[in-house]
Amino acid sequence: MLAHLLHLRGIESVILESRTRQYIEERVRAGVLEQGTVDLLVDSGVGARLQREGLVHHGIELRFNRSGHRINMYELTSGKAITIYAQHEVVKDLVAARLAAGGKLIFEAADVSVHGFDGGKPFVRFRSGGEFQELQCDYIAGCDGFHGICRPSIPAGALTAFDRVYPFGWLGILAQAPPSSKELIYAYHDRGFALLSMRTPEISRLYLQVAHHEDIENWPDDRIWAELAKRFETDDGWRLTEGPVLQKSITGMRSYVVEPMQFGKLFLAGDAAHIVPPTGAKGLNLAASDVRVLAQAFAEFYSSGSTRLLEDYSRICLRRVWKAQRFSWWMTYVLHRFDTENSFDQRRQIAELDYLTGSRAAMTSLAENYVGLPME
Ligand code: PHB
Repeated sequence: MLAHLLHLRGIESVILESRTRQYIEERVRAGVLEQGTVDLLVDSGVGARLQREGLVHHGIELRFNRSGHRINMYELTSGKAITIYAQHEVVKDLVAARLAAGGKLIFEAADVSVHGFDGGKPFVRFRSGGEFQELQCDYIAGCDGFHGICRPSIPAGALTAFDRVYPFGWLGILAQAPPSSKELIYAYHDRGFALLSMRTPEISRLYLQVAHHEDIENWPDDRIWAELAKRFETDDGWRLTEGPVLQKSITGMRSYVVEPMQFGKLFLAGDAAHIVPPTGAKGLNLAASDVRVLAQAFAEFYSSGSTRLLEDYSRICLRRVWKAQRFSWWMTYVLHRFDTENSFDQRRQIAELDYLTGSRAAMTSLAENYVGLPME
């Protein structure tokens, strides 16, 4: 996305991707795009397929005490919505746009290391097709995810990390089954959280809260379906549509931010600088808003020589990042079982959900965060 935005402003870049094209175009990741992310893709000319194939949702359902409550986000936010469109589909569209524009995209770049960003001459070393190469540049953008090499290349002590690990994970499945609901369902249950989402009108994406470090071997498909059915069960006879499980995995849950998101001429964006638990569906969207700011800052530098916006990059991004952190943490706390022994907490959570689904003020707060706070 960053390379595409830079290209539109006449700025050259090289993308180093450690995986193959096929891998990044098929890997199942996030699926919820905020309105601002959709606008960014559409306005920059890579949103045609998204507009044709994306599923626009005007609401979500919160389910607890065996009944559902719809939050009408569209009405509460004066016409904003979310769009379901898989992250790997966004990746496909962006790869196609870069290649069509003659962009430099090097797949299977190995042994990538970043240097010289503390001074005036940053460069990147990597191996491609067995050959070592060195790339001189003005700036390096570390868009290499939470486990990437950029953040750890910054000298110890220059960054401060803020971290929270949650005592559970999500077991996610992709199923060949028409979604049982037109909109997403976030369910709070005594047995733990469950989420119904989707990718297309034929493919469901479902999640279950499971114990931290749970082994996927303990979860044969029929156990997953039985557990999902229990957590989504309602008094009005709602039915979960089942189908063949195409893929399943367990992910941990964590909140993490480093400050600042920059050191010298190395700028961190997206998961390289911060991760959120998936409950608020914010990860991909935060990455999009980071690179939007970064592209503007580079554009200002290359058109006027001013580094004013580049120097402000971290501050601008972190204000929005922390609000999304707050929201993701809050959604996680509202919807998951933390202490299964403590019935006070359970009653308090039910009261919170009851309040949340009964107060227009509370619903508006949820809705405006869920569709995405304004990008600066
Ligand atoms: C997903 O569809 O993968 C998804 C949806 C909503 C979330 C998290 C993940 O909060």
